Amino acid sequence: MATTPEKREFVVLGIETSCDETAAALVRREANGKGVLLANVVRSQLALHAEFGGVVPEIAARAHVELLDRLIAEALAESRLGWDEIDGVAATAGPGLIGGLIVGVTTAKAIALARGLPFVAVNHLEAHALTPGLTHGLPFPYLLLLVSGGHTQLLIVKEVGSYTRLGTTLDDALGEAFDKAAKLLGLGFPGGPAVEECAKRGRATIALPRPMLGRPEPHFSLAGLKTALRHEAMKREPLGAQDVADLCASFQEAAAEMVSDRTRRAMELYLEQLGPDAQKALVVAGGVAANQRIRAALATVAAENGFALVLPPPELCTDNAAMVAWAGAERLARLLVDDLAAPSRARWPLDPGAAPAIGAGVKA
Ligand code: KG4
Ligand code: ZN
Repeated sequence: MATTPEKREFVVLGIETSCDETAAALVRREANGKGVLLANVVRSQLALHAEFGGVVPEIAARAHVELLDRLIAEALAESRLGWDEIDGVAATAGPGLIGGLIVGVTTAKAIALARGLPFVAVNHLEAHALTPGLTHGLPFPYLLLLVSGGHTQLLIVKEVGSYTRLGTTLDDALGEAFDKAAKLLGLGFPGGPAVEECAKRGRATIALPRPMLGRPEPHFSLAGLKTALRHEAMKREPLGAQDVADLCASFQEAAAEMVSDRTRRAMELYLEQLGPDAQKALVVAGGVAANQRIRAALATVAAENGFALVLPPPELCTDNAAMVAWAGAERLARLLVDDLAAPSRARWPLDPGAAPAIGAGVKA
């Protein structure tokens, strides 16, 4: 398999259906490796899932079926390109909710077959990991902190297809913990923005644990923090508005401190593994990267350790198809193409060689 990037331009259609966003996008990868975003269409299904307090897989899959064709047509119209100008089709093939993945992958394969185009099965985590190549032209290697509703990982991104997982979560994802905190405190879904907003009126004076702090491996654990929050909330019932604000502020502070500590440790491991002359760049992606307190904490850690902090714009940090199209283009340029028998995969670790985190549950 060739690994040297091909010196020609590609336009790639990307499709994302792994969770509750239906998305289609087009990017051009220029011969010099630079990326240009040509169209980016995302429909969140938030309203369909809100009353259940979380994503319902069957509802999500059905909504993807209903929306996807239209969104692809919208993306094409936005790019002002015709089908003849497209060089490849990429779809998220995992990890994610299997029903939705099958919708996106089958659509992409059908297009590839009908148009005689190469198909690329994209790992959703790889798509997040490669985004700074599109947004900032950032060269490899770099350290990635991915914090969303479904993932909490610290990864060394060495090259396309070459990742070392330094840390993962033993239980809940960080965004999921924010969502559960919000639900517990009656703040609605998705919880992250609601907790952040409410925390502005609170004092971070309630003692909550910071699980895993100071551990040599930069793993995360959120279950203990969530339980402690429940206990502190129960102690204060009936909860007044100030109690809720104080609980939010204290929870957010614990989360920020945990993220700082784990990222600091990952920076040490990054330099140990790649050597002191490796590019010092920390990329943060995922919905939780929108949190101002967590951003500020990461900016401090980055500055203290001489790392540049690279934050893709929020719409490319959360789930989208531009990152999928870009990952597809990066793979296509290296002749990393899949055949039409490539499966959809509910689980698909980026670093299959990573030792299982001790105590980890299904999300590790
Ligand atoms: O990346 P994303 O849009 O979707 C995936 O989960 O893949 O991330 C959504 C998650 C939700 O759990 C949401 O509560 C969290 O990101 N989130 C936040 C904030 N905005 C979104 N968490 C904390 N503070 C925020 N401002
Ligand atoms: Zn994601």
